[in-house]
Amino acid sequence: MTATDLFETMRTMRAMRRLKPDPVPDELIRQILEAGLCAPNGGNFQKWRFLVLKDQAVKQAVQVLYKRAYDETIGPRYATAVPPPGVSPERYARQHAAVEYLTEHYHEAPVWIVACLEDGANPSRVAGASIYPAVQNMLLAARALGLGSTLTTRHALYAAEADAAMGLPAGVHSYAILPIGYPMGKFGPVGRTALNEVVFAEKWGVPYV
Ligand SMILES: Cc1cc2nc3c(=O)[nH]c(=O)nc-3n(C[C@H](O)[C@H](O)[C@H](O)COP(=O)(O)O)c2cc1C
Repeated sequence: MTATDLFETMRTMRAMRRLKPDPVPDELIRQILEAGLCAPNGGNFQKWRFLVLKDQAVKQAVQVLYKRAYDETIGPRYATAVPPPGVSPERYARQHAAVEYLTEHYHEAPVWIVACLEDGANPSRVAGASIYPAVQNMLLAARALGLGSTLTTRHALYAAEADAAMGLPAGVHSYAILPIGYPMGKFGPVGRTALNEVVFAEKWGVPYV
């Protein structure tokens, strides 16, 4: 792979929320997981744990919570929110529709990778820094293999119930669920704000050029 491939992969790794139910070969899931295990993590203690889930009943039990969180919190927020920086109202409306779609079809993604940490009873503020790099590696790997996914954390609005539904033991918590499948749509450029609006040079507020 060339550096150009990597940059292109990052630029076009949109959240892919519409997925086909077609099965994903285990070999590809293994490649994604191997990419995850390459990630940096605090002290290299590798307290990460990953649950590969295909069981429809378990996924559905979590989807019920995911949808409840949408109905109670996320949906109403979308209904009144203004589009984020760098995103047109049309694009934001498309995102909302895709978020709704994923909410209804979450459990139909053929494979989930649940990214967890053995983080103990009182995880620190930076605990997630030892799992989200692995999550990003896995998203990039999925993209490189032509598979779609989205970093999702909404289930955490019902964290205890969701972790119990997935059978996580005490002292282990889920930090993200990656629903993975072949995308229905096409990968394409992500929409983000301009660099000089969020990067400062030397002094806070002085745009970086
Ligand atoms: C911490 C975090 C949590 C997220 N949780 C969800 C989620 O639960 N459901 C969802 O559909 N997207 C979720 N997303 C995806 C974001 O909505 C997405 O990255 C953002 O809208 C940008 O989309 P784009 O990469 O397609 O441009 C999450 C992203 C992050 C970083």
